[in-house]
Amino acid sequence: MAGSTLEIKNLHVSIEGNQILKGVNLTIKGGEFHAVMGPNGTGKSTLASAIMGHPKFEITEGNVYLDGEDVLEMEVDERARAGLFLGMQYPSEISGVTTSDFLRSSINARREEGDEISLMKFIKEMDNALDFLEIDKNMAQRYLNEGFSGGEKKRNEILQLMLIKPEIAILDEIDSGLDIDALKVVSKGINKLRDDNFGCLIITHYQRLLNYITPDKVHVMMQGRVVKSGGPELAKRLEAEGYDWIKEELGIEDESLEQKA
Ligand SMILES: Nc1ncnc2c1ncn2[C@@H]1O[C@H](COP(=O)(O)OP(=O)(O)O)[C@@H](O)[C@H]1O
Ligand SMILES: [Mg+2]
Repeated sequence: MAGSTLEIKNLHVSIEGNQILKGVNLTIKGGEFHAVMGPNGTGKSTLASAIMGHPKFEITEGNVYLDGEDVLEMEVDERARAGLFLGMQYPSEISGVTTSDFLRSSINARREEGDEISLMKFIKEMDNALDFLEIDKNMAQRYLNEGFSGGEKKRNEILQLMLIKPEIAILDEIDSGLDIDALKVVSKGINKLRDDNFGCLIITHYQRLLNYITPDKVHVMMQGRVVKSGGPELAKRLEAEGYDWIKEELGIEDESLEQKA
């Protein structure tokens, strides 16, 4: 079988009693890149966090399956071991753990006991990825994300992605806060992973990332639902015209949908 399949079915999620997701349906297969776009506050990050198992997000209805396995029944670490990866909108700083140690542990967590990656092989793979992503080698010995600039944190998420080699990655606003050079490097990293064994859900507020990474499908999220899906041309139209035409098409007149950015 080529790659894995992530199925999100009728997903309803609430935070502190507020219903944020109201029935999201999406299927991502190995080899596919999907983009999820939408105004701020429509639940894009909620979708990512809920799939990964952040305890704050309560699933009130619906299912998530990875190759038919019930993801919602898994602990967070089991989800990662099963092949899911989340590139966070705001990566956390972990003091006391170097980037290098974190990466090696993450790689080994996905391997069988007794089959850990050799130190030599790990260092070689890490050095190659650092070069590819134009990251200063010293960064690997610094504590994870501690004192990193916004752009460095995002590059570090892609470094993790390249080394951990998940089956399905969800990248939440990996482009936010990046200058154009960093955006190109990050895109180059994601594009390098494109093959039948890798599926990716790219969450972005702006179309500009999609100038460098061509998605197979584009989905628009509003009010906690996917309200429209199409090809890359949909993202281009959003860039040119914003989200108003979709609201009109769907008869949505909620002020809370106004873009805050
Ligand atoms: N930890 C939280 N506690 C309470 N409300 C939250 C929390 N995270 C997100 N929300 C609310 O959920 C809604 C969706 O947020 P989010 O998923 O971050 O949107 P997006 O990523 O599309 O901008 C917003 O109204 C936001 O205020
Ligand atoms: Mg968000």
